Amino acid sequence: MRMITAIIRPHKYEELRDALIALGIEGITVTQVSGFGRQRGQTEIYRGAEYNVAEVPKVRIDVAVSAALAEKAVREIERVANTGKIGDGKIFVQPLEQVIRIRTGETNETALG
Ligand SMILES: Nc1ncnc2c1ncn2[C@@H]1O[C@H](COP(=O)(O)OP(=O)(O)OP(=O)(O)O)[C@@H](O)[C@H]1O
Ligand SMILES: [Mg+2]
Repeated sequence: MRMITAIIRPHKYEELRDALIALGIEGITVTQVSGFGRQRGQTEIYRGAEYNVAEVPKVRIDVAVSAALAEKAVREIERVANTGKIGDGKIFVQPLEQVIRIRTGETNETALG
């Protein structure tokens, strides 16, 4: 299993959610976040003697998937979230050790979907 965390542009969220549902994912956690990448939130290349860091609003999605679905999900996030402009976001993929559905006690793949 994998935990996929993606930081995306807020206006891309609904399209991405629907695309991931179409792939077969069974849940998403979505959080409004802010942050910066290598431009430190600035849209223009640094030229001056000093510059500011500006956190930019983003949406974070966390989705736990089977290993079999992970690659497809990552590709779908890339496809939907890409505008080609700076600030499109990042995808982080981590191994996921254990999943438990609290109501039933089901675990792992059974608890995922
Ligand atoms: N190394 C990082 N660690 C944690 N979060 C990050 C990291 N890089 C980017 N992020 C998060 O992703 C958001 C979008 O980052 P962004 O797309 O600007 O990355 P980038 O590396 O600067 O790529 P680009 O050059 O395409 O802008 C940031 O606002 C931040 O929330
Ligand atoms: Mg950036």
